[in-house]
Amino acid sequence: MAIQQKGMHGAWASRWTFIMAATGSAVGLGNMWKFPYVAGSNGGGAFVLVYLGCILLIGVPVMMAEVLIGRQGRQSPINSMRDAVAESDAKSRWRHVGWVGVAAGMLILSFYAVIAGWALAYIFEAASGELAGVSGDTAGAIFGSLLADPSRLIFWQSIFMLLCVGVVVGGVKKGLGVAVEILMPVLFVMLLLLLGFSFFRGNFSAAWDFLFNFNLQLLTWRGVLEAMGQAFFTLSIGMGAIMAYGAYMPQKANIGKTILIVAFFDSLVAIISGLIIFSIVFATQGIEPSAGPGLMFISLPVAFGGMPGGLLIGSAFFVLVSIAAWSSAISLLEPCVAWLIEAKDISRVQANLLLAGFAWVLGLGSVLSFNVWSDIKFAGLTFFDFLDFLTANIMLPLSGLLIAVFVGYVMKREFVDYQMQGTAPKILALWRLTLRYVAPVAISAVFVMGIYDKFFS
Ligand code: TRP
Repeated sequence: MAIQQKGMHGAWASRWTFIMAATGSAVGLGNMWKFPYVAGSNGGGAFVLVYLGCILLIGVPVMMAEVLIGRQGRQSPINSMRDAVAESDAKSRWRHVGWVGVAAGMLILSFYAVIAGWALAYIFEAASGELAGVSGDTAGAIFGSLLADPSRLIFWQSIFMLLCVGVVVGGVKKGLGVAVEILMPVLFVMLLLLLGFSFFRGNFSAAWDFLFNFNLQLLTWRGVLEAMGQAFFTLSIGMGAIMAYGAYMPQKANIGKTILIVAFFDSLVAIISGLIIFSIVFATQGIEPSAGPGLMFISLPVAFGGMPGGLLIGSAFFVLVSIAAWSSAISLLEPCVAWLIEAKDISRVQANLLLAGFAWVLGLGSVLSFNVWSDIKFAGLTFFDFLDFLTANIMLPLSGLLIAVFVGYVMKREFVDYQMQGTAPKILALWRLTLRYVAPVAISAVFVMGIYDKFFS
């Protein structure tokens, strides 16, 4: 029963590198692409309030618990979880939590690469000049023609997958650690510039009202479930990504404070992205907030296409979206790769090719769901929508619930207290209360009501 100081994989250079890496994982398509359209199709304001509530009351405490298990185990999530279970003398059934994570990681990566492929395609779409002066309708038609063409989608999906493999093969630590420290600040600067643009050129006040006017009537239980799912998805929790990153976190760093910073950055990027996109949506004819997954790819081209030099900025923006997606996707692949190496004794290259290849093949289902298979439905959803719903709204909250219960009730107090050293007793008590009561009750309730609302009413 060792309390480990250092793991076999080494550690991040500093707490700041962990913050950048975890932010790199958290900030991705979930913030820039998904948050605006999910908020848009759920009526805005009230959804945003529930979303932020879920981040603070459920997301942050569960994220802390996930990091804690990782830092205690100092290995891939599955093995960290296995050790935590064994050393706490818990039932071995608890080990399955790690497996839900690996499965979720593969499923998410499969469709994530397809959507990230859209962003890659739009780098060139914008640079080519085709978007110059487009109206909302034309932008919609251009996006529609991309979706209708499986070979283009597969091409960009494959490029994105190769980019991920390229990094994970080389080991995430140095490549990723250095990359995120450069890329994340650049990302923030670009976002602020675009925020400035949308403030002066878009309908900023309408966007603000849409995101912050709380009209509770528009909110359904299904919307609440989606808000909770979005909170899990955007923070990268419930899958082991943050557990893997926690394994490399310096022992001295205070988990609570560090995670609060990551969650703050993450929420900030989501809100700013929402403000940018809705300012443009409300200033443009032919686009509705409820446009769905295409929202970003229709509204931003209109803005870029209409401003001097905008196509260049637009192209750069899609570079940044791609980068954000890339630093997130790596965190989906790495935990699975690390585990396969530990368990099957194969090389890092083999593990990468196997897992990325698997996710790529599965991704073809998502590619086809936008065109050839658009009429094939699972529980009323296309293949892509089904995977998205299954992972974000079912698998992530479920494993989040189990992580909360595990750290709250099952894990040996000694480990928990050791990892939480330096935390004020009141904060610690509050955190424990949240893990033991608030998160499990809230997750279960939202779960039951949301599923009922979506499928049975
Ligand atoms: N958080 C990322 C985003 O918002 C996606 C992501 C990366 C993720 N790693 C994850 C989601 C692990 C769930 C679990 O785009």
